[in-house]
Amino acid sequence: MTTRGFTSDNASGVHPAVLAALTAANEGHAPSYGADPLTAALEERVRDLFGADAQVFPVFNGTGANVVAVQALLQRWDAAVATADSHMVNDESTAPQLVGGARIVTVPSVAGRATPELLAPAFDAYDGTVHHARPAAITLAQSTELGTTYTAAELAALTTFARSRGARVHIDGARLANAAARLGATLRELTTDVGVDVLSFGGTKNGLLLGDAIVVLDPALAEPVARLRKASTQLASKMRFVSAQLLALLEDGLWRRNAAHANDAADLLAARLRPLGVEPVYPVQANAVFIPVPPAALPAVVADAPVLAWDRAAGVVRAVASFDTTEEDVDALVAALGRHF
Ligand SMILES: Cc1ncc(COP(=O)(O)O)c(C=O)c1O
Repeated sequence: MTTRGFTSDNASGVHPAVLAALTAANEGHAPSYGADPLTAALEERVRDLFGADAQVFPVFNGTGANVVAVQALLQRWDAAVATADSHMVNDESTAPQLVGGARIVTVPSVAGRATPELLAPAFDAYDGTVHHARPAAITLAQSTELGTTYTAAELAALTTFARSRGARVHIDGARLANAAARLGATLRELTTDVGVDVLSFGGTKNGLLLGDAIVVLDPALAEPVARLRKASTQLASKMRFVSAQLLALLEDGLWRRNAAHANDAADLLAARLRPLGVEPVYPVQANAVFIPVPPAALPAVVADAPVLAWDRAAGVVRAVASFDTTEEDVDALVAALGRHF
């Protein structure tokens, strides 16, 4: 038996329904740059799921979605506020600055989650003069970089806080599906209904070959996003192939089934680790499990088990389950990890 990858949920392959949709999209020719029938069908489906004003902009990847979406919220003298542990801050190189011209100001989190209290100092520090970057946006990940989630009520409190400080809200939803599946919520309840302005919607981590989307909820952002997507090199000419995949994911609830499966596999992993005396470092609220290991053993653990070295100093590895993770995969991983505890 081979142990399959848990380093990230992009280690997995492509869901068969998504591959079938790609094959079907390969019939004949179609207009380019999103003027095709599959993109039109995706636009309709996104309106069904996020509300009548929602507009979708397929992109190549999550970094691109974040950079374009956050850029659309900022003037050139503005900053966006994010948690210091977020993907946007730590794992997108200088893309927000280089491609988006976006300055990001950081605040601490509690297990990956921001709160109004944690965000407030970033706004309090701004004195309104031209000398300081104006905090004009908040960007939050759902689920967070540490595998935790925000409830709809928590999100509503965050968007209310943002509005009270004159800021807009972006959600990095690379794993929004996992959060929605875990919370038993609709996509709309976690975004449109709580006053989110724009979000990145993950596809690649949930069974696509390649493709994420920006979903604009404030119609005033549609034109900036459309123009910035092109200017930021995220406009696909053969867009029908990205749209076909997203449509397959969104059409009949595949997004939720895939995400729920990955969440369940993460739960199973946490449950199988407990008898070994191993408790995840953060609550398992999506599909990621952060596992404590003795720091001295970490290099051997990552050599032996398909997990990511998350924090070498503290001794933490990350295991992320995918839409196709099996019980055998989990057992093989636990066996490999178990050799090092
Ligand atoms: C929370 C989050 N946002 C954004 C991204 C960026 O996605 P991509 O690697 O497709 O650019 C990732 C990928 O790891 C992620 O985990």
